[in-house]
Amino acid sequence: MTATIETLVATLRYRPDLGLLFDPKSGTFHRLRNTVAKQMVSQIFSGADRQTVIDTVSNHYRADSSVVAADLDALVTTLTTAATAQAAPHDRALQEIDKRFDTELDFPLRLEIELTAVCNWNCGFCYNVWKIDPTMSDRDVRIAVRELPEKHIPTELATAILDECAEKGCYVIRYSGGETLLHPDAMDIFEHGGRLGLYQVIFTNGHFITADRAARLAAANVRCALVSIHGDRDQHNHLTGHPRAYDKAITAMQLLLDAGINVVAELTLVKENIAGALEVIRDVHRIGVREFGVMRYVPTGRNDDQYGVPISVTLPLMREIDQLTATECSGMTVAWPCAQKLCTSDTDTPLHADDPTLALRFSQIAGHCESGMVWASVSYDGQLRNCPHSNVYFGRLADHPVAELWPTLTKRVHEAVTTRDTCAGCAVADACRGGCHLPSFFAPKQVTGLGMPSLGAESVTGISG
Ligand SMILES: C[S@@+](CC[C@H](N)C(=O)[O-])C[C@H]1O[C@@H](n2cnc3c(N)ncnc32)[C@H](O)[C@@H]1O
Ligand code: SF4
Ligand code: SF4
Repeated sequence: MTATIETLVATLRYRPDLGLLFDPKSGTFHRLRNTVAKQMVSQIFSGADRQTVIDTVSNHYRADSSVVAADLDALVTTLTTAATAQAAPHDRALQEIDKRFDTELDFPLRLEIELTAVCNWNCGFCYNVWKIDPTMSDRDVRIAVRELPEKHIPTELATAILDECAEKGCYVIRYSGGETLLHPDAMDIFEHGGRLGLYQVIFTNGHFITADRAARLAAANVRCALVSIHGDRDQHNHLTGHPRAYDKAITAMQLLLDAGINVVAELTLVKENIAGALEVIRDVHRIGVREFGVMRYVPTGRNDDQYGVPISVTLPLMREIDQLTATECSGMTVAWPCAQKLCTSDTDTPLHADDPTLALRFSQIAGHCESGMVWASVSYDGQLRNCPHSNVYFGRLADHPVAELWPTLTKRVHEAVTTRDTCAGCAVADACRGGCHLPSFFAPKQVTGLGMPSLGAESVTGISG
């Protein structure tokens, strides 16, 4: 058993403040919901051996040491062996494992870092606007971006943030952009994060993925890639303004899967691609992708009339997706990552516990994003904000560590995420929290458009934001 305790310490990370363990290889979270389990695991991570843990706990609770020993062994076995197998990403109860903490976190659990503002695509709906001419060759693009240092996060700052995250228990790092791989030192940054044992996720348009790069990413513990795809070939190329975008994205997904990296295809739902969304799911299912994200356009204030999708399309599309995954695309899970209101209505419409649509809603909608509560985002110019769609910043990380800026940010978000009177009595309010909180977040400053019973542990693979 000593060896098993050693395995536990060697393979998992522990946040004692949250009673949360994390496996940086599988991306599995375990939440210890009982005091004795937390005491045991805290002692183990403080260096106690098996007998010391048993003696301490049995003395404290005046419990039979053989019972304590059996419970300890069962707990350690659960955490070290069954962890990955338990992960059921779309089980609602499990989805809340890395969310819904009782108190404000001292430090985020996940962080997104926007490596660059530069992109070789030209998506009109994108909140990031620094574009590279899509007719340039890949080589010329790479040369051009090196000449734009102010558009990339400084490499030393990115690695310092990763160091702080590894030290303070921020387990999941998601890199975004701009086009993430256009940061001149992107691979070095991922490799630094990999050496720190961080679970890393890249958000990419796939254009610069090669077989070699995919292998390097996998070796750097980049375990998941979110690859954007917004339509069939014609539609995707049209929406992205790049003639090779679709083929590059599909090839990238195949190369990443071949390298053993989990791929999530990410469709940004805009007016133009609502009708073709099911076809995109079919296309990526055909090449072996088994996770799909539908990100409904978030208003940018620039082209909202052109791209905005009414929330009323959500439930009918969810029904069609449910039908598709039950028939043609078996094994595919589809999730709507950005906090959609669970009532899928502009007007708050409290849901009842016996509502027959609840299962469908929870099978695809993850509930409140908890940006600013469990995770945050760093802009390419090194500022901390609650989410990438927010333009309210909480300070420069070149001047202050995350640990200094985070408390003010999370306090402000907790204040903003208050239940509205119009949501009173809603059976799912705890999970939904009224949907995206950005409007109320901005409100004061600007106007926006729009047991020892069972020593169990629960687990979930935590990759989404
Ligand atoms: C900003 S991009 C960065 C990573 C990479 N360049 C890519 O295209 O995947 C990350 C994701 O945000 C999505 N996105 C951009 N603007 C958006 C908006 N206004 N609302 C919702 N999603 C948006 C993109 O389509 C993409 O899937
Ligand atoms: S606050 Fe949450 S739901 Fe709103 S845009 Fe940001 S990530 Fe999406
Ligand atoms: S909490 Fe409010 S917004 Fe969310 S489902 Fe209930 S009524 Fe709708």
